[in-house]
Parts: sequence; structure tokens; C-alpha cells
Amino acid sequence: MMISKKLAEKINEQIGNEFGAHFQYINIATYFDEQALPKMAKLFYEQGAEEHEHAMKLLKYLVDTGAPVAIPAVPAPQAVFKTAEECFQLSVKWENEVTAQINNLFAIARKDNDYASENFLAWFVEEQVEEVGKMENLLKIVQRAGEKNLIMMEAYLSHE
Ligand code: FEO
Repeated sequence: MMISKKLAEKINEQIGNEFGAHFQYINIATYFDEQALPKMAKLFYEQGAEEHEHAMKLLKYLVDTGAPVAIPAVPAPQAVFKTAEECFQLSVKWENEVTAQINNLFAIARKDNDYASENFLAWFVEEQVEEVGKMENLLKIVQRAGEKNLIMMEAYLSHE
């Protein structure tokens, strides 16, 4: 095994977190889909698909480094939402948590003098800057539009 036992355990945990994000974003997508807000639904379906890719990328790294894969149980996502703003707030919170989790993985790799893992995880570090920024911006736009004007958000997203 090319990586430490601790890092392997934490990467397995992170696979669960990424699948958790996948489920959460898919559930948010359905909230918008049910309200006939297709652009916001698409945004979250796509975000959900990205989270699935993140999980698979981590999983493949474990396989490549000869570490055991043990996908943990994933808690059920929040399924009931009152407002669009709540959905974006949850997403910002989630992305900030993921950033802390990724930073922790990076710190373990650094402590292990595991340059290959640092290099691998750098992609996730960069990705989180983009994901937090994206969700923060969307939250601001939803707040500015207001719940009664979500159609403006649809128009905005159609130009993205
Ligand atoms: Fe995989 Fe949105 O973090």
C-alpha cells in the first residue's frame, strides 16, 4: 500500500461525504424540478453528477495505491425545503465543510511526506475554491431576486 492507513481511512470517509453530497444535490434538484424551475433543477442535477465523479476519483486513487476500499454508510440527505434560499444556504455550508475535509486529507498527506497524495489532493483543493465561490455567488443572486422572482434566477442561469 502506497499511502498510510490513516489517509486510506480518511479517503474512504471522504468517498462517503462525496456520495452524501451527490444525494443531497440530487434531492435539491428535485425540489426545483417539482416547481417547474428547470434551470435550477439542471444546475443541481449537474452538481450532483460532479459529486459522484469526485467520489469515483477518490475511489480510483485508493485502488491505484493498493489501499482497501470500504465505502461507508451515507446518511439520508435533507429532503424537505421551504425556500430556494435554504437550498443554496445548505449548499454553501456543505461546500465549506467539504473544503475543511479536503484540507484535512491534504494535511495528513503532508505529515506523511506523501508527495503523490499531496499532488493528487491538490486538484480537490483547487476544485473547492471554485465550488464554494460558485455556491456563494448563487446564494447572493437568489437573495437579491427573492422567492417570488425565481424566474429571474432561471433567466440568469439560461445565460450562464
Ligand atoms: Fe465534491 Fe462539492 O465537493
